[in-house]
Amino acid sequence: MKINTAEFVISNSEVEKCPKDRIPEYAFIGRSNVGKSSLINMITNHKNLAKTSGKPGKTQLINHFLINKNWHLVDLPGYGYAKVSKSTKAKFQQFITDYFETREQLICAFVLVDIRHEPQKIDTEFIEYLGESEIPFCIVFTKADKLGKTHIHKHVEAYKKNLLANNWEEMPQYFVTSAESTLGKEEILNYINEVNQS
Ligand code: GTP
Ligand code: MG
Repeated sequence: MKINTAEFVISNSEVEKCPKDRIPEYAFIGRSNVGKSSLINMITNHKNLAKTSGKPGKTQLINHFLINKNWHLVDLPGYGYAKVSKSTKAKFQQFITDYFETREQLICAFVLVDIRHEPQKIDTEFIEYLGESEIPFCIVFTKADKLGKTHIHKHVEAYKKNLLANNWEEMPQYFVTSAESTLGKEEILNYINEVNQS
């Protein structure tokens, strides 16, 4: 799919205030600093559409972007960032779960995990939560430019093994990506395109 237009629509702290139209949407979620905003910029060919930072906790609101005038990309705050105060963290968690539980426009969640790390409890728990809530999702491995090919393969296999050991019947649809090299861009866009047309 070719990206012709990508426009910022609105930022919200409350799910109720998100756009009311029935435009299909795709959300990016994962730990703080995993590369959600960078991935959005990469797949839309925009350097600064979503705000990125080396410091975790940059994205604090629900951000809607309108792509090709017919679908939304949603950049969400990260979960599991230890340095924000307990009450702020609780608020993040609440509005993230509110988002996933009430947003009828949501077609698919992309759960981002850093390809360099072993499966983290908070991620597998979030994946579990999406499964239990019957929310369609894909796994996106980020920062693949930081590993060589053999290690990429090994780490993906380790993730598969972990999920299968945790009662998943099969590895969910997944993508290996890099915001630096644009690896995985066409695959994600083609996936969204196919789902949008089905
Ligand atoms: P929060 O909004 O804080 O939750 O973070 P985020 O998940 O949106 O991460 P963000 O896109 O802001 O990126 C965090 C850091 O990781 C930045 O310093 C990025 O430059 C870096 N980064 C993101 N993606 C990649 C990637 O594919 N490769 C490399 N090498 N660095 C990346
Ligand atoms: Mg962000």
